[in-house]
Amino acid sequence: MAKFTEDTKRRLDALIARYPTSQAALLPALWVAQEVYGGWLPPEAMQEVADHLGVPASDVAGVATFYTMYNKRPVAHHRIEICQNVACMVNGADELIGYCERKLGIHAGEMTPDGSFSVERVECLGACCHAPALMVGSTYYESATEQTIDKLIADLANMPSESVHPPQSQMPEQGEF
Ligand code: FES
Repeated sequence: MAKFTEDTKRRLDALIARYPTSQAALLPALWVAQEVYGGWLPPEAMQEVADHLGVPASDVAGVATFYTMYNKRPVAHHRIEICQNVACMVNGADELIGYCERKLGIHAGEMTPDGSFSVERVECLGACCHAPALMVGSTYYESATEQTIDKLIADLANMPSESVHPPQSQMPEQGEF
């Protein structure tokens, strides 16, 4: 069932107006769709984007499946994304991921049965100077330790989701610069 409201369409139109072609607005449009669909992009979301932008559905699917920041399956309320690249790896990322897995009782790439948390290995978060680094939603945690994980999970357990709103989806609409 279609989920784009009139407000969603207005947001997309404002994005389209910022680019020379509607196809060029595909990336930010997918962020909006991901937000509207609760943090992921089912086929209906991609179809709605294709219909509104007037681009082939295959183009939308191609872009959405290429980039890992677009989720192709339902996601946890709180996604703990831990960098596994070199700087973080040599500073204990693997141990941190293992600790997080044991604490939540899941493996990296899985979510807890209640959908509250997931642990994910991700590529460089751009915080190499303060490795190991992790992210939850748009918040960075640098020089992370097991104590960081303990506090994070305790704090997030009682908080609403922030992971479904990536920072890019909060870009100002046209005229708000
Ligand atoms: S290597 Fe982990 S943030 Fe860059």
